[in-house]
Amino acid sequence: MITTIDHIIERLEGLAPQTAFILGSGLGGLVAAIEDAVHLPYEELDGFPASGVSGHAGELVAGKLSGKPVMMLSGRAHYYEKGDAAVMRPAIEILHGLGIRNLILTNSAGSLREDLPPGSVMLITDHINFAGTNPLIGEENDRRFVGMTSAYDAGLCDRLRAAASAENIELGEGVYMWFSGPSFETPAEIRMARTLGADAVGMSTVPEVILGRFVGLNCAACSVITNFGAGMTGGELSHQETKDMAPVGGGRLQKILSRFVVEAG
Ligand code: HPA
Repeated sequence: MITTIDHIIERLEGLAPQTAFILGSGLGGLVAAIEDAVHLPYEELDGFPASGVSGHAGELVAGKLSGKPVMMLSGRAHYYEKGDAAVMRPAIEILHGLGIRNLILTNSAGSLREDLPPGSVMLITDHINFAGTNPLIGEENDRRFVGMTSAYDAGLCDRLRAAASAENIELGEGVYMWFSGPSFETPAEIRMARTLGADAVGMSTVPEVILGRFVGLNCAACSVITNFGAGMTGGELSHQETKDMAPVGGGRLQKILSRFVVEAG
């Protein structure tokens, strides 16, 4: 792992970002906005996952966004790909080893609320782990008992709210519920999720936030809403719909994140 960190440091030529983003599908535009970008495909980074999900690239990109140094993981691996909830652990540990302090995660999600239609963006203020697993299972010391009361950093959330308001973009807020996937939820599961207090459902992010907190990163996350939850509209859900709709809210989220980086000081 040290060698991967050394390799990345060498390629960054003195750039030392403190903020990293993990980008879900449809947010590739943010990568294109990076100036003086250094592209490191995951294949050349030991421990980084090869994502096999269409719509997900696999590269670490570093450079400047709005003049500020940033790092982006464009593409992630999911629990449902191999059944490994800790699949992102090496990558997140490497981010920490590189001096990253803030981890901003993005994903696409299904909405459980009429007032959060497809195309909108939701700040995740808390989550429900409904996947029945945890990326820290098997960890053998007391560090595994990670507090999750403030999993979503209040300061980062405030800065995301401020960035959205400066861009005049409505930013919803809510609780994200992690389902393992890869099948979508049933209408009954969506009704259950609403009853249990969720506002959106998705198949990622929660294990990464747990891992981020485990290594001591400040975390925040936003969902791009691509569809209403199963059964809320009558139509069948599909990954194609996710891919088609992600750029709509994705464009909004890109503006928020570009502004967030400026305001970060
Ligand atoms: N469910 C789970 N994951 C998703 C959805 C959904 O409806 N939409 C986008 N990702």
